Amino acid sequence: MSEEKKFNPAKRKKLNNPVRLQWIPPQRIGTLLEMEKRRVYLDIGAGTGYISREVALMVPDAVIHALDIEPLMVEEMARGREKDHILPQLMTRDVLPFADASVDGIWSITVFHELGNPVPLLREIRRVLLPGGRLLIVDWEKKVEACEQGPPLEHRVFVEDVMAVLQEAGFSEVREVTGFTHHFGVLAEY
Ligand SMILES: C[S@@+](CC[C@H](N)C(=O)[O-])C[C@H]1O[C@@H](n2cnc3c(N)ncnc32)[C@H](O)[C@@H]1O
Repeated sequence: MSEEKKFNPAKRKKLNNPVRLQWIPPQRIGTLLEMEKRRVYLDIGAGTGYISREVALMVPDAVIHALDIEPLMVEEMARGREKDHILPQLMTRDVLPFADASVDGIWSITVFHELGNPVPLLREIRRVLLPGGRLLIVDWEKKVEACEQGPPLEHRVFVEDVMAVLQEAGFSEVREVTGFTHHFGVLAEY
């Protein structure tokens, strides 16, 4: 997890492949985070917002901030803003522009393997999460037999390594969760 492998925004249309909604069901994200109306959520590394949008439609009264470090992604998300119930926002790497203990839940989909050093971002996530708040990490399985799409095997991370980093960062109740295809899920609480 040392070298950075950021997604090329020129390939962003790949993120809008409908099969991804079968592999990473938005309902599963909502269930694992126990999402409820009027609560505040962050999608870190939201990309084109393809998955955020579907999650947001299930909980239209929740506030969902869709964050990304890449301006092209945020611009694309902003074009669909009115109908989508999500608030696209450009973020600086490892800085979450939110007050301490102000966020109920956070998800981050196929981003973790792109982080050079995840520790500073995890520290920020802990700072903004309310006590008992949940973090869901979903990323590509690092398996030779994994599907042909997605990043090369050498860029992927093992679920065990993600869990260990979260535990070291002070999250409790770190556990692997099922319900994804070609991807693993890790749920943690603060
Ligand atoms: C493979 S895309 C996934 C997008 C979206 N989560 C999805 O699943 O459709 C990874 C995204 O993470 C963003 N990203 C990479 N490093 C990041 C970081 N440190 N903080 C926030 N976003 C980051 C990239 O700009 C890119 O939009």
